[in-house]
Amino acid sequence: MKTTYIDWICQNFDFPQPPFSVNNNQLYFKGINLVELHQEYGSPLRVSYLPLIQERIKQARNGFKQAFETLHYVADYHYGYCTKSSHFSFVIDAILEENCFIETSSTFDIEIVNKLYDAKKIDVNHLIICNGYKTDSYLTAIANLANKGFKNITLIVDDYHELEFIEPLLKNRLKIGIRIATDEDPKFEFYTSRLGVRIDKIERFYLDNIHGSKKFSLELLHFFINAGIKDNLHYWNELNKCMECYLRLHQLQPSLKGLNLGGGFPVKNSLLDNFSYEYMIHEIVKTIQESCDSKNVPYPNLYTEFGSYTVAESGFILYQVLAQKKQNDKERWNIINSSFITTLPDTWSINKRYIMLAINNWEEEYERVLLGGITCDGDDYYNSEQHTNAIYLPKYDHSKPLLIGFFNMGAYQESISGYGGIKHCLIPSPKHIIIDKNHNIKVFAEEQNANHMLKILGY
Ligand SMILES: Cc1ncc(COP(=O)(O)O)c(C=O)c1O
Repeated sequence: MKTTYIDWICQNFDFPQPPFSVNNNQLYFKGINLVELHQEYGSPLRVSYLPLIQERIKQARNGFKQAFETLHYVADYHYGYCTKSSHFSFVIDAILEENCFIETSSTFDIEIVNKLYDAKKIDVNHLIICNGYKTDSYLTAIANLANKGFKNITLIVDDYHELEFIEPLLKNRLKIGIRIATDEDPKFEFYTSRLGVRIDKIERFYLDNIHGSKKFSLELLHFFINAGIKDNLHYWNELNKCMECYLRLHQLQPSLKGLNLGGGFPVKNSLLDNFSYEYMIHEIVKTIQESCDSKNVPYPNLYTEFGSYTVAESGFILYQVLAQKKQNDKERWNIINSSFITTLPDTWSINKRYIMLAINNWEEEYERVLLGGITCDGDDYYNSEQHTNAIYLPKYDHSKPLLIGFFNMGAYQESISGYGGIKHCLIPSPKHIIIDKNHNIKVFAEEQNANHMLKILGY
């Protein structure tokens, strides 16, 4: 009896599981038949499925609401989105529909804020948190926004020079947050993050630059762990250190009432991942609460600026296997009709894994393969799942085109690889479609054409 791909998936994973289902040996995503999608739009095909953005926002808000209620934590929770995870206008529109605040990282991000204001999508009361390293142009753009009347624009101090530079540019008072430079996970190559102010320098910095200032008021302490929000010793240690710092600052400025927990909420990279977001939120709120109770300090309003968590699940990409090359007895290369380096750069640069599934041929026997891209680069490949050192797909048969999908890839990939522009071996950017809550489909971008690339190259 042959063991089929569907048998293999069902034996190894809890499957079907949302948003996936299989019917008639074809994969469905949120009820959308991906084979039919491929028939209509071809591949490589980048898909943005917008309703999942709003689902995630609601999930996190519910988690905080429940934790606040259970723990009797009386304060506000603010959900923010860091634009750097995906700057597309349709993503920003989706998060604004949910009334999220915006976190910016650079000068051009402030241009996005200006555009949203001109289009009346936000007004001067919208909360804008400005993070990241501040160049002179970024600081000037922040000052201009504050001078335009944006009341809730908040500069998060990343480096010591920022307040000195911006002060003379300001007509109005500016809200300030200070980012703690956290200590990295012991496995990291360096000890303390380059981002933010060293924890033992924060009080001095506050006293020298903010305390008693007519231009600045301290609103937030900002805390972001590079390794992400994880239920491990490192995270809880850093959160406790952050709370000690918050309590010391609160003593100096009793009106301080905000704590920004940054981003870093996890996203499934395998069908085996199963995060309890509600548990993590509950534990975080409890840790903050216990800390505040120990010194009788009011509970801070909490802010998060989840990037990957907000947008990753909304993105997936479909490829077709063009051919199979058997290079020796053991290694079969399925060659996809695009490139991993250019469409999923994190697979190549940080060895990131994604949920990867066949779209069709689920009734076929399965086989172990390697996946190769069509650039000439030897590193343009994908060869393992997160949980195993291998990839399994339905057996390749030239007469039955094999389609595959990579899921939860909606964050950072275009910002890192570039969108359009020049690509390795001039492999074009894929066609990109958007699916809305009514499953209406819009083509956002056609596949990049040769003229587009050659023009940039000066031809
Ligand atoms: C300050 C800050 N906030 C939020 C984020 C978003 O992180 P993630 O996409 O992991 O949620 C980052 C990521 O680098 C960050 O530096």
